[in-house]
Amino acid sequence: MIVVGIETSCDETGVGVVRHDGAAPELLANEVASSVDEHARFGGVVPEVASRAHLQAMVPAVRRALATAGVTARDVDAVAVTAGPGLTGALLVGVAAAKAYATAWDVPLYGVNHLAAHVAVDTLQHGPLPPCLALLVSGGHSSLLDVPDVAGPVTPLGATIDDAAGEAFDKIARLLGLPFPGGPHVDRVARDGDPRAIAFPRGLTGPRDAPFDFSFSGLKTAVARHVEALERAGTPVPVADVAASFQEAVVDVLTAKAVRAARERGMETLLLGGGVAANSRLRALAQERCDVAGLALRVPRPGLCTDNGAMVAALGAHLLVSGAQASPLDLPADSSMPVTEVLVS
Ligand code: KG4
Ligand code: ZN
Repeated sequence: MIVVGIETSCDETGVGVVRHDGAAPELLANEVASSVDEHARFGGVVPEVASRAHLQAMVPAVRRALATAGVTARDVDAVAVTAGPGLTGALLVGVAAAKAYATAWDVPLYGVNHLAAHVAVDTLQHGPLPPCLALLVSGGHSSLLDVPDVAGPVTPLGATIDDAAGEAFDKIARLLGLPFPGGPHVDRVARDGDPRAIAFPRGLTGPRDAPFDFSFSGLKTAVARHVEALERAGTPVPVADVAASFQEAVVDVLTAKAVRAARERGMETLLLGGGVAANSRLRALAQERCDVAGLALRVPRPGLCTDNGAMVAALGAHLLVSGAQASPLDLPADSSMPVTEVLVS
């Protein structure tokens, strides 16, 4: 079984090709064209710019992906596409393209959930996924999910009540004069800093707080105040220490809550996914805490954590193999698709 996956929910035009012949899908191609450079001067993704870039990148990306995979259109058994959540205009380009390819190639179409795809991508690297607790952290989401099966319904346990983790990284990077998107830059700069230099607040960690929800806006304000106070006093801002201390506050809360959730749900595996799962300190601290708690940790390699088409193809392949019913050809793009909806039916 060969599945092509199309991802256009934000600023990456991703086209992936996977083969699934039984136990787990195998990655054949993963073409990603990013419009990130076009957004950098605005300090954030501009939806219209992203949509236009998807339109220009789509057909060449599909051609390249098929060529890299060494397959032709005739070999393809299904097309999967991110139906949501994401930017409406950006999603529409991918959904329209997927409908056209599925129709032209006369194969089933699966409109899938972007977050479920961030979970499913791990099977490309590590094989079949046991029931797990998933921590999904990206530019748009921070969620803890109970995932009994990679292609089945999930139970959300908690989510951010304000900024997403990646959004917090991007905003702090901007404050520190680092380029957009800021996550990878904060990660890099923090390597030379002291994570204990400044005691920034850990949001929603009090005894009466929701145990599995997140909040990063208080942390963001605390970092901004700290930097402003230094600037007012004419003191140089120790960028590496601020970055490291901020990053530590984020990943401390993320990993503590994820491990606690896994234990409470009786899970033996914790999975990290989404762009922020590329963060080196998050990966290291999660490993330390999973070792202590006796949990197996699964994290895809950084290139599979950030948005890509392979993750969509992987989820599509699991759905196809499990006999899931294809989505209707008039499936909509749903910018606020709920995390509980894995597949548009
Ligand atoms: O999953 P993703 O590619 O797109 C969304 O679905 O949002 O995540 C992008 C987010 C951005 O906020 C980016 O700054 C963040 O992931 N990110 C990182 C790292 N690499 C990407 N954040 C922290 N450390 C990183 N190494
Ligand atoms: Zn994503």
